[in-house]
Amino acid sequence: MKEVRANGFGGRVAAEPNGPIRGLRKEYTIINEESDGYTLFNTTDERGASKRRGIVAALATVAMLVPLAFAPSATAAEGDYSGGIKGEYNALGIAAGVATEAYSGLNSQERQDTVLANFNQITPENSMKPEGWYDGNHEFAMSDNTRSLLKFASDNNIRIYGHVLVWYSQTPDWFFQADEWCEDTNNTAGVTSCPLADKATMQERQRQHIENVAKAISDEFGPFGSDTNPVVAFDVVNETVNDTDNPDTNGMRNSLWYQTYDGEDYIYDAFENANTYFNEVYADPSDDHPVTLFINDYNTEQSGKRTRYAALLDRMVAEGVPFDGIGHQFHVTLTTATSNLEAALTDMERFNKKQAITELDVTTGTPVTEAKLIEQGQYYYEVNQIIHRHAAQLFSVTVWGLIDGLSWRSGEGAPLLFDDNLEKKPAYIATSVIAPTFPSR
Ligand code: G3I
Repeated sequence: MKEVRANGFGGRVAAEPNGPIRGLRKEYTIINEESDGYTLFNTTDERGASKRRGIVAALATVAMLVPLAFAPSATAAEGDYSGGIKGEYNALGIAAGVATEAYSGLNSQERQDTVLANFNQITPENSMKPEGWYDGNHEFAMSDNTRSLLKFASDNNIRIYGHVLVWYSQTPDWFFQADEWCEDTNNTAGVTSCPLADKATMQERQRQHIENVAKAISDEFGPFGSDTNPVVAFDVVNETVNDTDNPDTNGMRNSLWYQTYDGEDYIYDAFENANTYFNEVYADPSDDHPVTLFINDYNTEQSGKRTRYAALLDRMVAEGVPFDGIGHQFHVTLTTATSNLEAALTDMERFNKKQAITELDVTTGTPVTEAKLIEQGQYYYEVNQIIHRHAAQLFSVTVWGLIDGLSWRSGEGAPLLFDDNLEKKPAYIATSVIAPTFPSR
């Protein structure tokens, strides 16, 4: 019997693997303080071909018998998940986030209920990206999608983690052109055929864009830090570090931002602008720093990318750039060692900033089998343990989508916590309040 952690209800969660064969032929037992225990999985099938049986004998008084989508012929006990994912993380001082939009994960009462039961923070998956603020005439305005999401958050007392102010992608090409009306004959996003704007022009466009975003939100939802404005954080810059070590750009992505500025100081400017407009000009006077300002990137679980990321952060510290947090996207697969995710968090601790897991998803590969979904649960459980160990610096943990079918990676195998019927997957159970333990894979 191995106790692994205390949970939010003060219960005790322990695991007792039984008859292990290749990691999947195990029984998992949960014991809580009332001495009630129940077996969560009893798998006799290594590859999940439907032989898993008698999944749960529920003894806990809090348990309800419900069918689990991944075991249609069996019954399973569901613990008391009334705290949802936020019950797990809020107790640690971490916000529980989900990336979604009014038109996707919030477009039915059931989906809204699921979001509100489990999460207390939303990242707009697309609507607040630079291109989301401009119409065909290059006019700046808040879109209906953004307004709906902010209203949902404000009405339901849920936080918004903004995404994103400055990014090389999903930014109109005209934004980088000397003449914004020059006809770009290149059809590739992020590579315009028109002459590029000079640095001074880009400095002003960036400043104006960031001020416009802050002002538009503040105009409709009140100053940042006030009760009606739900925005608590923003990805100020996204994906600025190069995937390989390019000495010509000092390890930075050779994006149109980098090219127009001829260097990485567009990042420094972005944080200065964000701090000015979100934390000063459009902030509630009673709150001196309402919006936590993040830099965000992917593959930080890989050592090369992480080294370049940390080198950039060192330069930002040396330059006195006002950034508050370091984001790790963590778009991973079952073959990504979870120790690499932990290394990413550990290596960044020295900056003494907040950290965030900003875009978590874990693909199983295809075809999606019952066995893979259980292994995915084990994976999420390992991530959950890492989150507990690094809670002190974590600002939020965000899954990148509500249900598998809405994920940008749905074709790579069921990456999220809920299936398309909003049924809880093993990954959910591994992430929620009375989580069972999933012994290491
Ligand atoms: O808005 C159009 C719609 O008008 C059109 O009918 C439809 C047809 O396919 O496309 C819609 O746009 C799509 C948009 O998502 C909104 O659904 C784009 O084609 C599609 O490319 C876009 O994908 C998004 C992707 O960023 C674009 O880069 C994903 O949903 C979103 O999950 C993904 O998120 C990024 C993060 O911002 C940064 N980190 C990586 C992450 C995954 O790529």
